[in-house]
Amino acid sequence: MLRYGARMDTIAPERLMRPQPKTGILEIEPYVGGKASAEGVVEPIKLSSNENVLGSSAVARAAFERNAGKLHIYPDGKAMVLRSAVSTEFHLEPERLIFGCGSDEVFTLLAQTYCEPGDNVVQGEFGFLAYRIAARAAQAEVRFAPMPSLRFDVDQALALVDDRTRLVFLDNPGNPTGGWLRRDELERLHRGLPGACILVIDGAYAEFVDDPGFTDGIDLAREADNVVVTRTFSKIHGLAALRVGWGYAPTEMVGAMERIRSPFNVNLPAQFAAVEALGDKTFQAESRALVLEWRPWLTQQLGGLGLDVTPSQGNFVLAGFPRETPQSAQAAEAFLASRGILVRGLGNYGLPDHLRITVGLEPQNRAVVEALAAFVGPRA
Ligand SMILES: Cc1ncc(COP(=O)(O)O)c(C=O)c1O
Repeated sequence: MLRYGARMDTIAPERLMRPQPKTGILEIEPYVGGKASAEGVVEPIKLSSNENVLGSSAVARAAFERNAGKLHIYPDGKAMVLRSAVSTEFHLEPERLIFGCGSDEVFTLLAQTYCEPGDNVVQGEFGFLAYRIAARAAQAEVRFAPMPSLRFDVDQALALVDDRTRLVFLDNPGNPTGGWLRRDELERLHRGLPGACILVIDGAYAEFVDDPGFTDGIDLAREADNVVVTRTFSKIHGLAALRVGWGYAPTEMVGAMERIRSPFNVNLPAQFAAVEALGDKTFQAESRALVLEWRPWLTQQLGGLGLDVTPSQGNFVLAGFPRETPQSAQAAEAFLASRGILVRGLGNYGLPDHLRITVGLEPQNRAVVEALAAFVGPRA
C-alpha cells in the first residue's frame, strides 16, 4: 500500500516492479584489485597491489593482538588516541583531521559531501581508479585530464575546470604511473582553481619520494580553504588489511563530512595498531630504504630489457612494452604468473601495454627481472 500521498501513476512502472539503483550506478566499472593467487603456486611473489613487502611493524602487530580481547566493544568513533598521534606526528590541528576505513573512504566522503548531479570532478586520465568510482556514485561527471608522458598535467587539468567543478583529485605520486608534481607545479594548480573547488592531494606514496622538489601539500593545506591532504596506513606502515587512512581539511569541511561518516568506520584494533605503527620509525625507515635502493635498480634493469620505464616516486614502477615490441604486456603478465610472480596488468587503467610492478625484496626483484628477461628473449 502506498502512503504519504505517493501516487502510482507518478512513478515509472519499472520502478514499481523491482528495486532499481539510482542513475549512473550500473555504468560504474567495479574496482578490480591486483591478483592475489597464481594457479598451481602456493606462495606466489605478490607484486601486484603496492603493498609493503616487509610486512608490518612488530609493535603494530602486537597492539592488534593486545586488542583481540575487545572485539565485542565498539571502537572510539572519534578515534581520539589515533587523532592525537597523527596530530602530534604531523603538527596538525586535531579537529581538522578525519579518519576513514582506508583513505578510499575519505574520497567517498568528499564526493558524497560536495557533489550532486550537474557537478563535475577532474582527475588525471591515468589517475587512481577509486576517485572516479567515488565521484560517479555521487552522480558527478568525471573529467579526465590528458596525461602526456604519463604525468599529471596542470594545464590540461585546469582547462577542464569550470564553476561546477567541485573536486580535483591529484595522486601525488600517482598510481599507477609513479609520476609526481613538484612544489611549483602543485602551487600553480592550486592558484588556478576557483575558491569553491577543492584540491585533494592524495599522498598515499608520499613517504617513498626522494625528489627534494616534492611537497606532500600539507603546508598548502594548512593555509588554504580548499585543500585536503589524504594519507594512508596501507603503504609505508604495511597495514593495508586494517583499512586506515586520514584526511586533513579545513575545519568546516571536516564538520560537513562528519555528518555522513559512518560512526564507527575505523575498527578498534586498527586504531591502536596504527598508533604504534606511527611510532615505529625503524620500520618506516627500512620500508623507505628498501624502495629507494631497489626502485632505481628495477628501473634500470627493466629499461635494459627494452621496456619503457616511467620515472617513479612510488613503491612501484611502471613498465611499458614499446609498440614495435612483438610481445604484449598481457602475455608478459601471464608468463610471470606461470612462474608464480604476480604483477598488475593495467587494461582497466587504459594502459593495456603496461605492467605495474611493486618494488619487492631483493630476491623478488631479481626473480621478476630474470623472468621478464626470459620472456622478452635475447635482444638483437
Ligand atoms: C594513489 C592511492 N591512493 C589511495 C590508495 C588507497 O589507500 P587505502 O588503502 O588507504 O584506501 C591507494 C591504494 O592503492 C592508492 O594507490
